[in-house]
Amino acid sequence: MKKRVKKLYKGLEGSIKIPSDKSISHRAVMFSSLANGKSVIKNFSKGQDPHSTMNIFKQLGINFEFKDSQTVIVTSSGKLTNPYAPLDCGNSGTTMRLVSGLLAGQQISATLTGDESLSKRPMKRIIEPLTLMGADISAIDGHAPITIKKAELHSIDYHSKLASAQVKSCILLAGLNTDGTTTVTEPSISRNHTELMLKYMGANINTNGKTVSITKSILEPKTIEICGDISSAAYFIVAALIVPGSDIILKNVGLNPTRTGILGVCKQMGANVEILSSETKSGEPVGDIRIQYSSLKSCNISGETIPKLIDELPVIAVLATQAAGETRITDAKDLRNKESDRISVTVNALKKLGANIEELPDGFLIHGKTPLTGGVELETFHDHRIAMSLYVAGLICQKEILIDGFEWAGISFPEFEELFNELM
Ligand code: S3P
Repeated sequence: MKKRVKKLYKGLEGSIKIPSDKSISHRAVMFSSLANGKSVIKNFSKGQDPHSTMNIFKQLGINFEFKDSQTVIVTSSGKLTNPYAPLDCGNSGTTMRLVSGLLAGQQISATLTGDESLSKRPMKRIIEPLTLMGADISAIDGHAPITIKKAELHSIDYHSKLASAQVKSCILLAGLNTDGTTTVTEPSISRNHTELMLKYMGANINTNGKTVSITKSILEPKTIEICGDISSAAYFIVAALIVPGSDIILKNVGLNPTRTGILGVCKQMGANVEILSSETKSGEPVGDIRIQYSSLKSCNISGETIPKLIDELPVIAVLATQAAGETRITDAKDLRNKESDRISVTVNALKKLGANIEELPDGFLIHGKTPLTGGVELETFHDHRIAMSLYVAGLICQKEILIDGFEWAGISFPEFEELFNELM
């Protein structure tokens, strides 16, 4: 689908509720499937990725009953059954990596497949630690399809080279049903939704700085209310900051400190972003945010901040084109391993729009403030975050742009355009 995006001559105004968090939705399905009894998931994501996870757990014998479009009753005996057919993870890296660890730990035999984009993404990062735990797991040249055969696992003490919540969660989920204590240490702290939700459901899991440990646990069924996704909120935050005259409120935004890197960046850039309220829902901090159009200055983003805003970097690059001075983003090499090579795709697209941006091996260098000219057609490369970031850039381009493959936004955020229309 080709999407035409035109310059906005009036600021964004009003307030919207941010839809369900993708990362937390995946985990709610996986963990409630392991709990014996009935769990309730409220505000489940409408995105395709969490639905890929749910379809897999249906194949593993779990029952999901929708009470309305976003409230799900999960009924499980606490045990999974061996699937008859390959498990299709679609476009979702979180599904493939977390489900691999979970199934290996539950001693289930299965094959996991993915779409064209997912089949190109690196899986050695999970095959290596799971093999060290005794799993029988294989893939062709480190890529999907992944085949797991029943094997008895043992605990490990794993030091990961990557700050990756997917790798960390994969190992912890394998450790959830393994004798002994499994520990994972990361170079910097990645999102901790797995830890918070497993704890909420009664698991023996503890965090000490960059190290998380887990011992064999039985999960209790719970009601899990999922907050709004700060990664989805990011498109509105950036749009309001760069479209003159904007003043918006985003409600129900997840404010877990392992995800709020973008708010720190906004502060450094001198943006008018204010947290209006906050509370805790199912173990996760949530709040409302007000964002007003701002005059921005450049900043540097690197090191331990990167995992806290990894998925927001393409739209932060759009933001930096409108900040005075040089914004340097480094230590983000793993962006090349996402749904697309987000470093090269972002740089090429923003250059075509008239931005002054350079590609670095592990990030970008952006010289602002530059007017965006537009008047071109751009590709999304099967990547939802590229589709949505380009839409935001299009709102300030002098000439309209065409985004080819815009339907990929539905992977995480099918309500994206409807919500933008509400603020226009
Ligand atoms: C995710 C972790 C991140 C993120 C992805 C979702 C998760 O990936 O980019 O969109 O839900 O655990 P990595 O852990 O590979 O950095």
